[in-house]
Amino acid sequence: MGVTTSQRRSAHDDPPLPVSTPHAASATKRRWSSLTAICVALVVVAEIAFLARLDVAGKSLIVDSWVDFIRFAPARTKEDLGFQGLSGDKLSEDESCEAWLEREDAVVYSRDFSKQPVLVADASQEFKSCAVGCVFRYDEPEKADAAFGLKKAPKKVLRSMESAVYYAENNLEEARRRGYDVVMTTSLSSDVPVGYFSWSEYDIMAPVLPKTEKSLAAAFISNCAGNNFRLAALEALEKANVSIDSYGSCHRNRDGDVNKVEALKRYIFSLAFENSNEEDYVTEKFFQSLVAGTVPVVIGAPNIQEFAPARGSILHIKTLEDVASVAKTMQFLASNPAEFNNSLRWKYEGPSDSFKALLDMAAVHSSCRLCIHLATQIREKEETDPGLKQRPCKCTRGAETVYHVYVRERGGFEFKSVFLRSDKLTLEAFESAVLEKFMSAKHVPNWKKERPESIRGPDHDYRVYRIYPAGMTQRQALYTFRFGHDADLRAHIESRPCAQFEVIFV
Ligand SMILES: *[C@@H]1O[C@H](CO)[C@@H](O)[C@H](O)[C@H]1NC(C)=O
Ligand SMILES: *[C@@H]1O[C@H](CO)[C@@H](O)[C@H](O)[C@H]1NC(C)=O
Repeated sequence: MGVTTSQRRSAHDDPPLPVSTPHAASATKRRWSSLTAICVALVVVAEIAFLARLDVAGKSLIVDSWVDFIRFAPARTKEDLGFQGLSGDKLSEDESCEAWLEREDAVVYSRDFSKQPVLVADASQEFKSCAVGCVFRYDEPEKADAAFGLKKAPKKVLRSMESAVYYAENNLEEARRRGYDVVMTTSLSSDVPVGYFSWSEYDIMAPVLPKTEKSLAAAFISNCAGNNFRLAALEALEKANVSIDSYGSCHRNRDGDVNKVEALKRYIFSLAFENSNEEDYVTEKFFQSLVAGTVPVVIGAPNIQEFAPARGSILHIKTLEDVASVAKTMQFLASNPAEFNNSLRWKYEGPSDSFKALLDMAAVHSSCRLCIHLATQIREKEETDPGLKQRPCKCTRGAETVYHVYVRERGGFEFKSVFLRSDKLTLEAFESAVLEKFMSAKHVPNWKKERPESIRGPDHDYRVYRIYPAGMTQRQALYTFRFGHDADLRAHIESRPCAQFEVIFV
């Protein structure tokens, strides 16, 4: 029993890769002719057995390619049919599909990043450790893998935490148009997001202090100008009888020479008014308000609720028309301590999984995430090289196919092998296979050392929050992408041999 892989080719499949060594190809061709009849017979038996076990939903798709197979079989060569069992090592009866795939699918990459780290020019190294070899230094851009700015480097990187309202080139399309290959902005749709948030910078779980100030809200607005209606909103709130202590130079009525977070702690509300309303543009104004145990009243990112630590924990003034109702809510909360305390429940019980998953992104320094992004691109390029040996990526034995997929933690670099069986190709089975793989490897999520102790848990206690195809943006990963049904996952895996995924644990 030598031949055990049969690759069904669907319309989504990439064309088969040529065999890399001509010598091996001619040798196997001779063996091939004598084995042809046996092979086809075996595949037919496997196909029939396989079909018998599939659920109804999967059937139509498989039957299509089955018909395809019959129609084209006589004209096809070994490579077309994908009998990797012949060109590579044979799968013997006593070897598991998993062990065989682990060996046959392995890629020896030409660059070892531990010896030849990713080199980024024109910036200083600010991170402590990174999952891939990563060096930042002032060097010649041409010789590095990437450099900041539009210098002559293999990859040009834009990094900025400013709003695109003020710096037009921070807009993703605009940056690409100007020639940047890698964009690092606050946008979760950028290649490597650089947020203002991080566990290390903000003591998010700091205790709530008694609210001793007479005024309801505190404001630290240094500049009354802004590319939104924040000044008008401030005045409208005052008119609606919301008492505001203003420490910034805009409408100042309190001495501004104070520790901002310490001062905020004494207030029920904090006015977190950004200078522009841009998706994902959420600055320290917001995170400091959370540290201080206030309810932030936000003017800024239209999607600010995605940054809320819990439902009902923040107030959002989307337009000037909202001011009246927000002022009412503020007065209601201020006169109902139990209700106000309810808005801060996350301070006692911990924030939501979605909040943790968002902030955990920053557990890995953005410079390190840049190196991972660059190193991943270098490997991807190598994987699509036509000279790369053909990888089977799946293995059929009897009625069952074992799919080989690769999974790494977000913020990590090396992928781990995960094997999925055709009779249990479900989202639930995928999640538990991933969790089991990482747990049995005693993997410790990269956020374990970063989160505040009260919401960290023991090292080996974590759950799967999201699994998504590697290469997606954080906006997709966290908010817009989900495999809706088991069938979506099956289609994804069947159409992408050796598919790569990232997992976010919480
Ligand atoms: C604000 O308070 C003043 C004086 O207490 C009162 O006359 C006015 O109606 C109040 N305005 C609002 C919008 O509640
Ligand atoms: C607020 O609620 C928490 C429990 O959610 C409780 O431990 C705390 O004592 C409450 N604080 C006040 C001031 O009521």
